Amino acid sequence: MAINLLLGLQWGDEGKGKIVDVLTGDYDIIARFQGGPNAGHTLIFDGYKHVLHTIPSGIFHKTAVNVVGNGVVIDPVIFKRELDNLDKFDIDFTTKLLISRKAHLILPTHRLLDAASETSKGKAKIGSTLKGIGPTYMDKTGRNGLRVGDLEMENWEEKYKALTKKHIRMIDYYGVKLEYDIAELEEEFNEGVKRLKELTFIDSEEYLNNALKNGKSILAEGAQGSLLDVDFGTYPFVTSSNTTAAGACTGLGIAPNKIGDVFGIFKAYTTRVGSGPFPTELFDEDGATMAKVGHEFGATTGRPRRCGWLDLVALKYAAQVNGVTQLMMMKGDVLSGFDTLKVCTSYKYKGEEISHLPYNIEPENVTPIYSEFKGWQADLTQMTTKEELPQNLMEYISFIEKEVEVPIKIVSVGPDRKQTILR
Ligand code: IMP
Repeated sequence: MAINLLLGLQWGDEGKGKIVDVLTGDYDIIARFQGGPNAGHTLIFDGYKHVLHTIPSGIFHKTAVNVVGNGVVIDPVIFKRELDNLDKFDIDFTTKLLISRKAHLILPTHRLLDAASETSKGKAKIGSTLKGIGPTYMDKTGRNGLRVGDLEMENWEEKYKALTKKHIRMIDYYGVKLEYDIAELEEEFNEGVKRLKELTFIDSEEYLNNALKNGKSILAEGAQGSLLDVDFGTYPFVTSSNTTAAGACTGLGIAPNKIGDVFGIFKAYTTRVGSGPFPTELFDEDGATMAKVGHEFGATTGRPRRCGWLDLVALKYAAQVNGVTQLMMMKGDVLSGFDTLKVCTSYKYKGEEISHLPYNIEPENVTPIYSEFKGWQADLTQMTTKEELPQNLMEYISFIEKEVEVPIKIVSVGPDRKQTILR
């Protein structure tokens, strides 16, 4: 049995949550392998909208077991809120949601450090979600972090106090003014820890490898997107984890030869939240239409997303780094009504035309070169079969498939589970 991966190929917000939810019926286990509550995975079904941050998107299916892997960072405060929001669904969390002992914990002071670091950067800020992600991964790689397994140890209090004390000294070092009441933050944190401890902690690498041996099927759910990967993204405007396929191996303890299909999710256009280069970004009516029709506001922070045309140079790069075997195109419905669509097929870079992603894609170095396509007017949102899709959309799809050299297997035409067309 192999483990399949599902990843975002752009700057996040591609609609991974929806597709995991659609595919969950085919899997025994859904596992998150990186990121934390900076993610906002939106699921819409039966007229309800749910936003998950740390909990895997398979939680609404009765049969699937959901695993939060070692590569994830958990904020007990946000995690408790997420669990509280799911109370009405009558889910047995002790058996349906398993937490890796090796997952790192986001402390209240990690959030404060994130805020201090961003404030001190001024205009050069990353545009972080301020959930403490960067400082927590820094403590992980700096070998100072606290993990879920530490909550079971007798010296937890001691370790927590030592790290918090160090963080407070670091916050002072930044010399920025932050208003906070540590006692209040800790009270909230302890409540979260209490709730977290009611769940089942596991050695997740052991659990997942045994599950594979026993013929169980696993879907690894990525968060953020490939262009936010700490190594392969638009550094330093990235998140602090490996969002690409290799991150699933280290974030779950699964060997590369156990990986089967890699599902790459992308929007029919491009969006980005936060700072950083975005070659195909639009500042005109077309961009405003995408933002409006696509409801492009961050699920975690509510910030407006920047919008632009599809960038095939970046998409091909992401498909290559991840070894994508199947593409899934989201939000095709948002492009209905445009007379002409553009797709970036190469860049003008230092006077030359190139078709790969260079080291530096800041606007002063890169100008996108576009191919144009005829748009379609039909409303796609009620369509249920591939035969109904307009001819011009089919041409758009075929062009992408030919360029990326990977088939598009799902075309999503709306946010609901049911608005999903298989090809
Ligand atoms: P951080 O991961 O919160 O530190 O944010 C770093 C960068 O990644 C910022 O530009 C964020 O806007 C972006 N980012 C983090 N998580 C997500 C996500 O789930 N979707 C889209 N962008 C994200």
